[in-house]
Amino acid sequence: MRGILITLEGIDGSGKTTVASILTHKLPEARSQRHFVFTAEPTIGEAGKLLRSHLADKSHDTSEEISRARRIQELSLFMADHADHLAKTVIHELDKGSVVISDRYADSTTAYQGVTLRGIIPEPLDWIRDIYRPWNVVPDRTLFFSVEPMGAIRRLRARKKMEKFERLEFMKEVDSNFRKITALEPERFVTIDAQKEADRVVEDALDAILEIID
Ligand code: TMP
Repeated sequence: MRGILITLEGIDGSGKTTVASILTHKLPEARSQRHFVFTAEPTIGEAGKLLRSHLADKSHDTSEEISRARRIQELSLFMADHADHLAKTVIHELDKGSVVISDRYADSTTAYQGVTLRGIIPEPLDWIRDIYRPWNVVPDRTLFFSVEPMGAIRRLRARKKMEKFERLEFMKEVDSNFRKITALEPERFVTIDAQKEADRVVEDALDAILEIID
């Protein structure tokens, strides 16, 4: 039996990681006959570590040329991490029949790097989708956690550490990219209204996932 791949996507502060951690208990309870694997991108593997150290690097780019090179480097690191994730975890687990739940996946790269590569690559969103298409494993279902970007930023500001990508204008553009991708593949995406009360969001996410697991 081929497994099932489900991915969770959304801007920073959309609450999907909190939901993912609750699902680690609720899903095995609801479908005790299935084996669940909870994973994420960036991964905790070597490529993911390299990526996180790149993202944590606060040194300012001294020229436009360096900034361009670094943004291409960033895409390459996300792509390498995704390929590593597929090769080491996702494909093996799907072959074993597991249900794989990934907190972020290739759609994050399309949405985020689809913004960072503007001005470097023409139509970056389409370009990234084209690069991934021949080798990516397409999820059976993707939950898009929809929130208003300003609300998400407020939630993030309440936390101590702000990540590199957590700025309002940037987040609005990422959000708009996620909505474009959702519209391109409506059969794969389920939009979760993540502004509802926390318990309802978990319930909606759980329903959308259980619908495709026997
Ligand atoms: P995280 O907060 O979900 O761990 O992700 C770290 C940051 O990296 C977050 O701001 C989203 C961003 N990101 C990308 O820009 N491209 C990607 O492909 C992925 C997986 C994450």
